[in-house]
Amino acid sequence: MTLAPGGRNCCTLLVLAICPNPTIDRLVILDELRPGTVERARENRAYPAGKSVSAARGSLANGARPQVLVLLLTDGAGWYLDTLVAEGMDVAVHSCPGRVRESIIVLEDDGRVTVLNGTGAPVDAEAWDAFLDGAVARIRPGDWVVCSGSFPPGVAPEALSGLVAAIAGAGGRLALDTGPAWMPAALTGPAMPALVTPNLAEAEAILAEGVTVEHTWVGADALERAAAAASGLRARGIDSVVVTAGSAGLAWSTEGADGVLPGLPVDVRNPIGAGDAFMGGLVARLEQGAEFADAARWGMATSCAAIEQWSPGGADAGRVAHFRSLITA
Ligand SMILES: Nc1ncnc2c1ncn2[C@@H]1O[C@H](COP(=O)(O)OP(=O)(O)OP(=O)(O)O)[C@@H](O)[C@H]1O
Ligand SMILES: [Mg+2]
Repeated sequence: MTLAPGGRNCCTLLVLAICPNPTIDRLVILDELRPGTVERARENRAYPAGKSVSAARGSLANGARPQVLVLLLTDGAGWYLDTLVAEGMDVAVHSCPGRVRESIIVLEDDGRVTVLNGTGAPVDAEAWDAFLDGAVARIRPGDWVVCSGSFPPGVAPEALSGLVAAIAGAGGRLALDTGPAWMPAALTGPAMPALVTPNLAEAEAILAEGVTVEHTWVGADALERAAAAASGLRARGIDSVVVTAGSAGLAWSTEGADGVLPGLPVDVRNPIGAGDAFMGGLVARLEQGAEFADAARWGMATSCAAIEQWSPGGADAGRVAHFRSLITA
C-alpha cells in the first residue's frame, strides 16, 4: 500500500533510493559514556534514517531530485514520514505491520561513537516482493537506483540476487552498498550492480568471503589496500567500485580508469552516514554527466559536508562546494 504518493514526473532528473530497513536515528550527545552508570545527555536529536535515506540526502545536496521508497512499519511511521517530507524529500511508502525500528547513536566529546542498531519486525516474502515490484515500477531505463544498508528480518541474503536482477531487468543502474552478510549474494550474477561503494573493512571481508566485520579500520596503508580491494571487486564483474577508508579517503576503479583521493581534514560532528552521503553525491553527479573521477571528488566533498553536521548524510550544498574546492585534480 502506498501512503504518500511521491509520483514521479516523467521528465525530472531522479535518483531512486530504496530503503528496505528504515530506522529512527536517536543521537545522544554527551561528554563521556560510562556504561553501567546513570548519565544525563547534553543534547538529544532524532532523524528519520536508514542508509538509503542518508544517500538520498547526499544526492539532494548535489542538485538531484531523489525519491525515497521506504519499506516502513506502520507504528511510528507518522513522525518518520512527516519529518522526512518537511526536509524537502520526495517520499513514497510501502507499508507493513510493526513498529519502526530505532537506533541509538552515542556521540562523545572525544569523538568516540557507539551505535546500537535496533531490529525491526519481520517482513514476509509477499511484502518484500510487493516492495520490490513498487521499486521496479518507478524505474526508467538508465535511472540510478541507490540501495544502502541492511535488510529487515525475514529477508534472507539470497533475496539480494533477485533484487539485483529485478533492477537490472527494468534497465536501472544499481548503486549498492550493503555489508558482507548480504553483498556476496548480490554478486552471484548474471545481473550485477553497476556500482558498489563498501568501506575498506567491508570490501576486504567481501573479498575474503565468510568474514563479517562491523567497523572501518584505518591504517597507514589504507589507500593502498582500498585500491587493491577496488580492483579485486571490479574483477568480479562490477562496472565501477569505490572503496572508502574513513579519514584516510578512498580509492575508485571504473572502466579504463582508477584513482585515489586522500581524505580532507574535517571537524566531525556525526560520522554516521559518511559513506552513504558519498554514494548519494557520486550518483547525483554521474547522473548529471560528470566523469567518474570528478563525480568521486564531489562524492567525497559531500561526505565531508555531511559529517560536519548532525543529520545522517545531510549536507549543505554550499559546504559541499567548499570541500570540492579543496580537492585538487
Ligand atoms: N573522520 C573523517 N575525516 C575526514 N573525512 C572522513 C572521515 N570519515 C569519513 N570521511 C569521508 O567520508 C568517506 C566515507 O567514509 P567511511 O569510509 O567512514 O564510510 P562508511 O564506513 O561507509 O560510513 P557509513 O556506513 O556510516 O556511511 C571517506 O572516504 C572520507 O572521504
Ligand atoms: Mg557504509
